[in-house]
Amino acid sequence: MPIKPVLRMGDPRLLEVARKVEEFGTPLLEALIRDMQDTMEALDGAGLAAPQIGVDLQVVIFGVKRNPRYPEAEEVPYTVLLNPIITPLTKRMEQGWEGCLSVPGMRGMVPRFTRLRYQGSDQYGKAIDRSVEGFHARVVQHECDHLQGVLYPMRITDFRMFGFADVLFSGQAAPMDE
Ligand code: NI
Repeated sequence: MPIKPVLRMGDPRLLEVARKVEEFGTPLLEALIRDMQDTMEALDGAGLAAPQIGVDLQVVIFGVKRNPRYPEAEEVPYTVLLNPIITPLTKRMEQGWEGCLSVPGMRGMVPRFTRLRYQGSDQYGKAIDRSVEGFHARVVQHECDHLQGVLYPMRITDFRMFGFADVLFSGQAAPMDE
C-alpha cells in the first residue's frame, strides 16, 4: 500500500474546490482511503485531505490517539468523512497552533470556531452527523478547508505567530501536522 507524495503549498491543485463524491463503496474509493491512511500514518499526521495527494474529491480522514508526546492533546476518533458540511454552533473563535503536511516544518496560530456540527458520510454512504468542540472541531475545520482550496496560512491573523517549528518550539514537541 503505497505512501503517496503530499503536495506542498505553491501547487495550484491545493487551491481548487474539490468535487463531490457521487459513488460510494467503490474499489477506487477504497484504494484512495487506504493510500490516505498509509500516508497520514507514515507522516504522523492528525488528518489528511484527498487534494493533498492530488485527488480532486471531497474526502478527508482524521484521528488522534493518545500520544505521550502530546499529553494535553485531546483524542479525536478516527473518521473517514466525505462531502462534509460544517455549521458553526457558536460565533466564538479560539487561536491555536496548527501545522499541515502540505506546509512542512512550519506552524502557525489559527483562529477557529470552538464548536461546530459536521455532516457528511463515510466511504459507504452511511451518514455522519456530529457536534464537536475543541481540538476535534479544529481538526475538522482544517481538513475541510483543504476541500475548499484553503490552507491554514491563509487564515492566520497575526503573522508574528507563524514560523518554523524547530525555532518556535525549540526542542519541545511541536503541534501535529494536519
Ligand atoms: Ni493540512
